[in-house]
Amino acid sequence: MRKKVTIVGAGNTGATMAQILATRNYADIVLIDIVEGLPQGKALDIAESAPWANFSGSILGTNDWKDTANSDVVIVTSGIARKPGMTREDLLSTNAGIVRSVVTSAVEHSPKTTLVIFANPMDVMCHVALEASGFERNRVIGQGGMLDSARYRTFIAMETSSSVKDVSAWVMGGHTEATMVPIVSNATVGGVPLRQLLGDQKTQQVVERTSKGGAEIVDLLKTGSAFVAPAAATIEMVDSILLDENRILTCCAFLSGEYGIENAYVGVPVMLGQGGIKEIYEIPLSDSEQAEMIVAGDAVKELVDLIP
Ligand code: LAC
Repeated sequence: MRKKVTIVGAGNTGATMAQILATRNYADIVLIDIVEGLPQGKALDIAESAPWANFSGSILGTNDWKDTANSDVVIVTSGIARKPGMTREDLLSTNAGIVRSVVTSAVEHSPKTTLVIFANPMDVMCHVALEASGFERNRVIGQGGMLDSARYRTFIAMETSSSVKDVSAWVMGGHTEATMVPIVSNATVGGVPLRQLLGDQKTQQVVERTSKGGAEIVDLLKTGSAFVAPAAATIEMVDSILLDENRILTCCAFLSGEYGIENAYVGVPVMLGQGGIKEIYEIPLSDSEQAEMIVAGDAVKELVDLIP
């Protein structure tokens, strides 16, 4: 039987995820939104691309949670996006209410699903989703490190004029400008250390551009935030879960003592496969990177305390 994936929210991000996932050709997709016509229209448009885009799965747009029943993965994109001048934290109270209600409906119809949380502030919304679902921590995973690592790798490839395929570099920590931890100590291009290629100053510039990567797009678009790279990053996680690929990817996971962080969602390397997170890895970090991880954990916990 084909896998079933529900994408909650038919905005730019949700629709782009649906489009990318459809072309992977292993899942039936349900796109759900409260706005009438929007998920139906986006789903039909994507379905009509199938003859030329070479996929054959079904894609259904709906406003009815019943259609989402027994999904293997539910991706939560719903919530408002940033406008220029807004931080991800500004979205906290509105999106907490939305995520709580969406997750409650989702797990009612798909009690065995794995939740992938995208809504911002993503780290905090993972806490909301964990509580609303009542799930074990391995089945509620946040997307953040995947997108930020994609940006980090892209900027490294641009600066070094090398193929992005050979860039191995990960962003751990939080999904905010102040709490992102682009890891330099193990970043390489084809095994050559990043610092050796770029020197300290350029490396620092790449790290800073990565941390501000989301805002760079918001400032350019002026009407919303990025959606193509975020969608690609999220679907890579879904692939690993549903195809049981056991990829080791940096995602937002609930930590219970790892990296000295208790009870907070923070970006760390995890093994993703059937059922969600199979393993959380503690890797060697430099002293400053480890200190930044603690700051990231504390920042999430502060925001969690503010959830209305
Ligand atoms: C970004 C938003 C989607 O980083 O979190 O672009």
